[in-house]
Amino acid sequence: MKTPRDLFAPFRFACGLSSKNRVVLAPMTNGQSPTTELSDAEFRWLDQRIRGGFGIVTTCATHVLPSAQAWPGELGIFSDRHTPGFARLATAAREFNCLVIPQLFHGGFRCPASVTGQQPVSASEFKLDVPDFEKPRALEVSEIIEIEDAFAAAAGRAIKAGLPGVEIHGANGYLFSQFLSPQTNLRKDEWGGSLANRSRILIDTVKKVRAAIGPAHILGVRLSPEDTKVLTLDIDEMLEVASELSQLGVDYISISLWSAVKLPNKYPDGAETVLAKFRKVISSSVGVTVSGQIWTAADAVAALNEGADFVAMAAAGIANPDWPERLFESLSSSSKAARGVGGPRGNGSFEPHRLPMTPSELQERAVSDSFIEYLKKFKYVLD
Ligand SMILES: Cc1cc2nc3c(=O)[nH]c(=O)nc-3n(C[C@H](O)[C@H](O)[C@H](O)COP(=O)(O)O)c2cc1C
Repeated sequence: MKTPRDLFAPFRFACGLSSKNRVVLAPMTNGQSPTTELSDAEFRWLDQRIRGGFGIVTTCATHVLPSAQAWPGELGIFSDRHTPGFARLATAAREFNCLVIPQLFHGGFRCPASVTGQQPVSASEFKLDVPDFEKPRALEVSEIIEIEDAFAAAAGRAIKAGLPGVEIHGANGYLFSQFLSPQTNLRKDEWGGSLANRSRILIDTVKKVRAAIGPAHILGVRLSPEDTKVLTLDIDEMLEVASELSQLGVDYISISLWSAVKLPNKYPDGAETVLAKFRKVISSSVGVTVSGQIWTAADAVAALNEGADFVAMAAAGIANPDWPERLFESLSSSSKAARGVGGPRGNGSFEPHRLPMTPSELQERAVSDSFIEYLKKFKYVLD
């Protein structure tokens, strides 16, 4: 059985790089970079978490093409003018031995014309019953290749900026999920139909990104195992995709869940967790990251016990920029107490701050006004 101390064991990726611990800031869109270049506000938001002890700090979903942007204020990585921002993060991270990993992103049909100035694109033309739905047009084959190449170029830019690797956002209903789901992929060509065809864009992107960053940098992929709020995915198919990615030699697979270890209602009591199912098909040389309602050390340890190598936190990372640091201190004080050398009596856990919070509490946590506005959607802000 794992203990909170195991969260501070270093992890060596297959590429040879190591993370100092197992605690990850999950990718969070924050709308703080209005020009798409890293703003001071977005830098401060990430830097506070770098300083707070996270072993890996994932950036927001960063668009790899201007037409791939889903929200105003979203950080971009589609041009060399973005490189200095990522270099600034790389420098800040080095001092704390933190791995800053940009999440590379295309939103597909969820890139509104109000943001990009263009009709959204996706695997196919379709209609979905979701708020503010804008009908996409189907991507031409040449555009699919351009998108794959844009991911590779963005990844190369991240490495040039001094970052240790990249994560491909294959989860949560965005472009790659739209290709994976038969609900939104109605194509009749080599990118539609069988799972091999529907996963082709993701697999080819992974190969191109690996070629761009070389074998000595981290390549992660984020996947949604099942239905997202937007579209339908099949868990057995997603297990196959995870297994193929694992054989392709990605360094980690991040499973995006709403609850890391709790079973969705449709599973019988005592059934294997989604996390455990993924762990079984992902080879042991590939790290498994999980997210979803991880707040306390006990939550994090439960995820390790189900086979996760890393725990990623979004909400708890907003409220607790120094979550790893505070847990580490509480463990150190308990060991001191145990050795009779005094210090506060820690029990190896601490009570994290919870959301919602007031705007001023959020500002203290380097959440600027535009991000506070966005967080209202999640009911994370008190009036
Ligand atoms: C404000 C906010 C922004 C998010 N943006 C992203 C994103 O850019 N990319 C992504 O993969 N997931 C994103 N997510 C999902 C989180 O990474 C995470 O998977 C989810 O919130 C569940 O984790 P939690 O319970 O710790 O919040 C976002 C979540 C929040 C709350």
